Amino acid sequence: MKILFVASECAPFVKTGGLADVVGAVPKALRELGSDVKILMPAYPSVKALLKSGKSVWRSDDLFGGKAQLKSVQAEGLDLLLLDAQHLYDRPGSIYLDEAGQDWHDNHLRFGALCRVGAEVCLNGIGDWKPDIAHAHDWQAGLIPVYLKQAGASSPKSVITIHNIAFQGLFDSSTLKILGIDDDMFTHERVEYWGKVGFLKSGIALADKVTTVSPTYAEELMEPEFGMGLEGLMQHRRVDLSGILNGIDLDVWNPATDKALKRNYTARSLKRKAENRAEIEKRFGLTANATGPLFCVVSRLTTQKGLDLLLDALPDLVGQGAQLALLGSGDPQIEDGFRRASKQYAGSVGAIIGYDEDLSHLLQGGADAILVPSRFEPCGLTQLYGLRYGTLPVVAKTGGLADTVIDATAENVKSKKATGFSFSPVSKEGLVQVIARTCEMYRQPELWTSMQRSAMRYPVDWGHSAELYQKLYQQMMVDQSTDDGNLK
Ligand code: ADP
Ligand code: GLC
Repeated sequence: MKILFVASECAPFVKTGGLADVVGAVPKALRELGSDVKILMPAYPSVKALLKSGKSVWRSDDLFGGKAQLKSVQAEGLDLLLLDAQHLYDRPGSIYLDEAGQDWHDNHLRFGALCRVGAEVCLNGIGDWKPDIAHAHDWQAGLIPVYLKQAGASSPKSVITIHNIAFQGLFDSSTLKILGIDDDMFTHERVEYWGKVGFLKSGIALADKVTTVSPTYAEELMEPEFGMGLEGLMQHRRVDLSGILNGIDLDVWNPATDKALKRNYTARSLKRKAENRAEIEKRFGLTANATGPLFCVVSRLTTQKGLDLLLDALPDLVGQGAQLALLGSGDPQIEDGFRRASKQYAGSVGAIIGYDEDLSHLLQGGADAILVPSRFEPCGLTQLYGLRYGTLPVVAKTGGLADTVIDATAENVKSKKATGFSFSPVSKEGLVQVIARTCEMYRQPELWTSMQRSAMRYPVDWGHSAELYQKLYQQMMVDQSTDDGNLK
């Protein structure tokens, strides 16, 4: 089967969050199952060097106001189609935000162009490669099904994966014309969302199938508390909706081989984690040889992630004799909060504000536990890395966090099933309690080590989920041939 992925990020080339990890990992797992995946993404400055070795497979003199070409490139075991359009993507800094931290003024064009070219690849193919399935990821790829429908194409079938419904890609209705979307598409059942053009809404409304990144989030999306205004549409698409849990790339996230660690280790040599912890203490200005657990956070600093609650819970965390090392960036208020906390609790709380891939690996390798107190979490990947690294996840019981972490209840600990700690509802009190529970378990080293081993055994690879995607694609192909049969 030939699958076209369309996405705005892909690790290791460009990444702001978990979307990139998933887009970079699933194609490899699908290849093992015999699928042939190409990833269409913008040629941002970080991938420009790859263009030189690429083969030009499509060109346009005017893609929303400038020249564009598509280059086919192989890199890091992935087949990429890089959309080289300097007027849209050749900009310094964030791929989504301008220097002032606002969305780029022309994001509708930047990602509309990605979809338009994606649809063209679907319709005409490149060389003898024509996708059987178009797989759109998040709002940036949401117009793919729109352009396909508008072209009257019955194939390929399309699927959209919702990685986070909080980001919807809403634009003024005046953008419709320049995006080349027909007026009759601007209805409540299609592209229109409260008078605006909704990229994600369009994708959900018009794709043949809709997936999201965990079974629990698939259920949650149909509720007002989580659906962010799209819960009605999600209910409407219920029969075509499924939740397929994210996995992680075990070649990249392996404590036995990870080059970013000071010391590698396995489930049988967990004591070696101590060297990584010592390195973290040095880097984060924490007191050495503390007796309590070291918690870490690796996260975007936003209210989604519940880290404002962690700021409130810090006196209790420190009071338990625990330490915290936080790596993250985002909301300036939360950033300032952690900067201040690292002064107030010097030696016990350390914060590095920024984005650092290697340091994120070191934190997983050296901390005892990873905190993820999210208010909502479609899947979450850092708790999966935590499981793999024997860094016990301490998580809010929501979305994919609820699906991947087995709480240390007395029963689960006894049967050696427990892999972490979870709490709900998401409140400061709940967080304080779960931190206390974690510290108490840490004081029982045998139980703690046994939990670490259970965590490291827990399957977090892509195997099963890749099979679910493959089955979904196969089902879509069957639907396709039934449709074709009906047309005859
Ligand atoms: P989300 O996609 O909502 O941000 P996920 O948990 O799915 O959350 O994925 C976040 C990804 O980004 C993980 O790979 C995590 O390690 C990484 N990450 C987040 N913040 C940072 C940071 N400041 N430095 C390095 N990696 C980070
Ligand atoms: C989103 C979600 C996160 C998920 C990631 C990858 O950014 O916030 O929970 O793990 O996408 O699917």
